[in-house]
Amino acid sequence: MNEDRSKLLAQTWDEAAEGYDRYFVPRFAPWVATTTTALLTHPLPPGPILVPCCGTFPELPAIAAAHPDREIVGLDFSQGMLARARRRITAHPRARLLHGDALDLYTRWPGTAAAVISVFGLQQLPDPPTALAGWVSALRPGGILSVMYWPDETENDGPFALLDAVIAEALPQSADDRDWHLRLSDAVTTAGAEVERDVPVAHPIIHPDAETFWMVMADGGRLRNLSLSHGETVFAQLRNRFLDQAPTGPWEHMPTARWIVACMA
Ligand SMILES: C[S@@+](CC[C@H](N)C(=O)[O-])C[C@H]1O[C@@H](n2cnc3c(N)ncnc32)[C@H](O)[C@@H]1O
Repeated sequence: MNEDRSKLLAQTWDEAAEGYDRYFVPRFAPWVATTTTALLTHPLPPGPILVPCCGTFPELPAIAAAHPDREIVGLDFSQGMLARARRRITAHPRARLLHGDALDLYTRWPGTAAAVISVFGLQQLPDPPTALAGWVSALRPGGILSVMYWPDETENDGPFALLDAVIAEALPQSADDRDWHLRLSDAVTTAGAEVERDVPVAHPIIHPDAETFWMVMADGGRLRNLSLSHGETVFAQLRNRFLDQAPTGPWEHMPTARWIVACMA
């Protein structure tokens, strides 16, 4: 990854770590639980279980419960996220953390890992199909890939959709590659694995109110980047537009992530 972009993104996550861990990790727990079920239905070949983009490592308890004797490696490029992950690994002697780029998985473990498990990291990588192919190439024959990610569109209605709409209206972007998720399955197959699932996974999330949602997104979510790149005036205008169109009171929605599970031939 471009070194400057990577540094900036890692720094953003350093600053977001506390808010993300407190607010989003409990709300995203159902998706973590779904992702780790792939480890219960497959016997694993020898090798470590790798968790790229582990953040504060909420995947760890379920992985360690399924494979208590296995080496489990959480990898992330944010020291702030890893500092919080360190608290989680103390209860798991076979777990360790590595500071590094998720794009380097294949270089560190070429065809030697038993599994790659990852939640909500893939969509942040610069070229997700190529990154996913690299993760597959880290697997031994019989190894399992289980990856949960957010596609560009996660809902038609709800805070994620309203946020997208407000940002798109105020800051029209150059034509992004919005269809990258359609190429993931082919990337996995080309890298030598068989896709077993490529499915949507929706769960409910409740936010106390729109204002709280905005604040946590500014603090521990994607809005932090926007305030840095576009300045405080634009940021305040975005906030007003968002709150004007948001409902009052508790806000429940049902965003849809996608889950891809594959087995290395
Ligand atoms: C949305 S968080 C998810 C963390 C955790 N898996 C969870 O479910 O809570 C995404 C994580 O990906 C990490 N990340 C993003 N790009 C990365 C990269 N190129 N290499 C390593 N980590 C990366 C961020 O630092 C962040 O901790």
